[in-house]
Amino acid sequence: MKTTPIPTPYYEYNLGVLRSTLEAMLSAIPDPRYRVHYAIKANNNRKILNEIVGTGKIGADCVSGGEVEAAINAGFNPADIMLAGVGKTDREIQLALNAGIGCLNVESLEELEIIHQLATSMGVKAPIALRINPNIDAHTHKYITTGTAENKFGIPLATLDRAIEKALEWADGIELLGLHFHIGSQLLDMQPYVALCHTINEIQHHLDSLGVRLSMIDVGGGLGIDYIHPHENPIPDFGAYFSVFQKHLQLRPHQTLHFELGRSLVAQCGSLITQVTYVKQGLHRKFIIVDSGMTDLIRPALYGAHHHIDNISANEESIREKYDVVGPICESSDTFARDITLPLTHRGDLLAIRSAGAYGEVMASHYNCRQLPQSYFID
Ligand code: LLP
Repeated sequence: MKTTPIPTPYYEYNLGVLRSTLEAMLSAIPDPRYRVHYAIKANNNRKILNEIVGTGKIGADCVSGGEVEAAINAGFNPADIMLAGVGKTDREIQLALNAGIGCLNVESLEELEIIHQLATSMGVKAPIALRINPNIDAHTHKYITTGTAENKFGIPLATLDRAIEKALEWADGIELLGLHFHIGSQLLDMQPYVALCHTINEIQHHLDSLGVRLSMIDVGGGLGIDYIHPHENPIPDFGAYFSVFQKHLQLRPHQTLHFELGRSLVAQCGSLITQVTYVKQGLHRKFIIVDSGMTDLIRPALYGAHHHIDNISANEESIREKYDVVGPICESSDTFARDITLPLTHRGDLLAIRSAGAYGEVMASHYNCRQLPQSYFID
């Protein structure tokens, strides 16, 4: 068996890749009014958060009270923290208001009313943005498409006027900052973002006519990464992404534009390192059975997601075989890859499942009484 610095399976994070990605993103920002918030849901590993906080230029985007606490503990400035989520509990709203976070993204009229009640009873004004469903299909996986008209997320465009009316009527406890949108995740085609810009422009024209003045627009996250060629494309094209907004969004001079990037910042710096327990000859297929499973990385099982896999200990590069790479969990969906070509693989070899820095470690579970994977950092 090959030896590893810590027991497999574990997440290996390459801090060099993370830092280069953060630098590339920050240097691609074309306008001082653009503000990036890291979507903590992608990875809340404390060392990753420390690196992001360390840039001094990135805020946090949270979806639960626990994430707000994690962001504050990691040192994010509360004023640069946003809280979204369709089901914020009273406790989470109070926690956010007490912490003085920058903005609560409100996803329904029902929630707006509760935030108003809680804020007035605490004697504070809740800074909010209304999350609007722009009715744009992001053409990504159905589980991560979130901007279509009828959706559990956000307020339908048709209800926008009423929501604004209410927010203004409840000005004793609500400070309406702006509008929030998020159309989906893992977007590689920029066209849905162009469509989003056009919709926001139309909304802004409409609001101008009503005399409503907004200080911020938040366009959510979703920039995708190259899961197929992670070695060739370790850093997403942040320049192309930001320029869509620069070109198509008519931001008012006094407005700030907020982005909630998760995957694009952290996915490529992480790999799941796993050891081969058996290479099993089936009737027609060869199965590589590894010691990690869907409990460590659920994306292939849940979304049919592709992750590139390398055998990092093979020494017979010239002989290549086709394999299915599967985990040990008692579910047929516990499969990392089918029919992939790898160097001749043996029991004890180490495989690296790439692009696992986002929605990997954070989505791990104890199913089958398994231990959570640990993490290991290389520079
Ligand atoms: N903002 C909001 C309101 C979101 O719902 C999300 C992600 C983000 C920002 C960050 O999106 P990103 O830049 O990471 O695409 N577990 C799935 C992804 C779920 C995304 C949920 N929302 C996966 O593994 O693909």
